[in-house]
Amino acid sequence: MGLNFKKMTTNRTFTMIKPDAVKSGYAGKILNQICDAGFKIVAMKFTRLSKEKAGEFYAVHAARPFYGELVDFMSSGPIVAAILEKENAVEDFRTLIGATDPSKAAPGTIRALYAKNVGENAVHGSDSNENAQIEGSFHFAGTEIF
Ligand code: CMP
Repeated sequence: MGLNFKKMTTNRTFTMIKPDAVKSGYAGKILNQICDAGFKIVAMKFTRLSKEKAGEFYAVHAARPFYGELVDFMSSGPIVAAILEKENAVEDFRTLIGATDPSKAAPGTIRALYAKNVGENAVHGSDSNENAQIEGSFHFAGTEIF
């Protein structure tokens, strides 16, 4: 018989290309790098967060000293929001984008290539399967996910 026990992995994550990267014209290059790394786009929109929505999205960081700055920045211009599919999506995407602080991000990662600093760091990637689900449904209705 033999049941085949596979390691449980997520296959979806959520990302935003942040206002700094969109403003600098890097959205196309970043999406290309994401697709070249084997991620499939299953939802995507070009949008702008209100201050209120940005505050809600990052509510988990409300007590941090950088929260106000983060909310102002994330609502300062358009973003690209997307849900990405790939085996082991959350972990693999975090490897692809590199450390939060671009000065510590591995060479060739999206943040090493395109981020300005720890605040204006080009992209967001969910940090867990649970947050990927919460963040994806924050931005997309079921009918917008394919
Ligand atoms: P992100 O992965 O989107 O999740 C939380 C965000 O907070 C992070 O990326 C950064 O943009 C921001 N952030 C984290 N640490 C700092 C910091 N020390 N100063 C300013 N912004 C920060």
